[in-house]
Amino acid sequence: MRVGVLTGGGDCPGLNAVIRSVVRKGVQEYGFDFVGLRDGWLGALRNEVLPLGVSGVRGILPRGGTILGSSRTNPFKHEDGVRRIQDTLAAHRIDALVVIGGEDTLGVAAELNRQGIRIVGVPKTIDNDVPGTDYTFGFDTAVGVATEAIDRLHTTAESHRRTLVVEVMGRHSGWIALHAGVAGGANVILVPERPFDIDQVCAWVKSRFEFNYAPIVVAAEGAVPQEGQMILKDRSLDEYGHARLSGVGEWLSQEISRRTGTDARTTVLGYIQRGGTPSAFDRWLATRFGLHAVDAVSDGDFGTMTALRGTDIVRVPLPDAGTGTKRVDPSLYDEFGVFFG
Ligand code: F6P
Repeated sequence: MRVGVLTGGGDCPGLNAVIRSVVRKGVQEYGFDFVGLRDGWLGALRNEVLPLGVSGVRGILPRGGTILGSSRTNPFKHEDGVRRIQDTLAAHRIDALVVIGGEDTLGVAAELNRQGIRIVGVPKTIDNDVPGTDYTFGFDTAVGVATEAIDRLHTTAESHRRTLVVEVMGRHSGWIALHAGVAGGANVILVPERPFDIDQVCAWVKSRFEFNYAPIVVAAEGAVPQEGQMILKDRSLDEYGHARLSGVGEWLSQEISRRTGTDARTTVLGYIQRGGTPSAFDRWLATRFGLHAVDAVSDGDFGTMTALRGTDIVRVPLPDAGTGTKRVDPSLYDEFGVFFG
């Protein structure tokens, strides 16, 4: 069997670990042949295919990014998208695809699978928001990076007696903000799932100053004030209809300064959370996802994706586009209210 592998959407640490384990097990145990499709669905549309063998995946386990490249291309936004993908698969005699992506890429995979393309999915994203799996790889690394940043920001905030707002990634879900905020001892954590009251945020900031500490406010980029809308610097949309986020952190520090009369600054962590080497946990999870994905291909169990349930890897249906993201449960968020202010 010849299997194509592609990585779509925003990159994340651990993608190469999945590619490596898919290829290693696929070649060594099942005698499969592999090719890579360049830049996610874009390579499938443009017929950009590269050879992928065991020698090509040596040494990539600890490397961030993806050796296959990635993009946010949505084939359904391109004329004849499905037919062009079918032509590419036929031209290279590709029997099945392993698609490594987040909810957008996997939503496309679910639809293409319904249209007859044989696909097994692997969920990835630093945001940890793919439904059906307890965790995605990439998330643990991002939380580690953000926690280290928060630890560092505590000391400079205290030296200057100012508030530091830390904006982390998380478009629809506040998983990174919540985990890194709790691990880093933040005084305020703002997530998209819970629109925030700016007066309450300022009250928490003031009370923190009263105890002679400098406040650390961690905000997911998708956090929204109760009064108003998402704060955006850039309104242009990608092919999945997502605006480019970032802006709430800057807005928060300005409002905190204006309303409390104290100094406040913002650090936007941005792509630092996505780049670089994966944590040990992410390498472990990505490797297991790859091994189980190639088993699913061998079993002919298409239309499924690997998922983590507790400590087991299971197969679940590919999430349909529009299923929505996995969000932070309100009761989980409320557990940490005791640390606010
Ligand atoms: O999907 C992960 C993510 O990190 C989001 O939190 C963020 O909004 C987005 O990617 C930004 O990625 P890009 O600028 O590459 O579209």
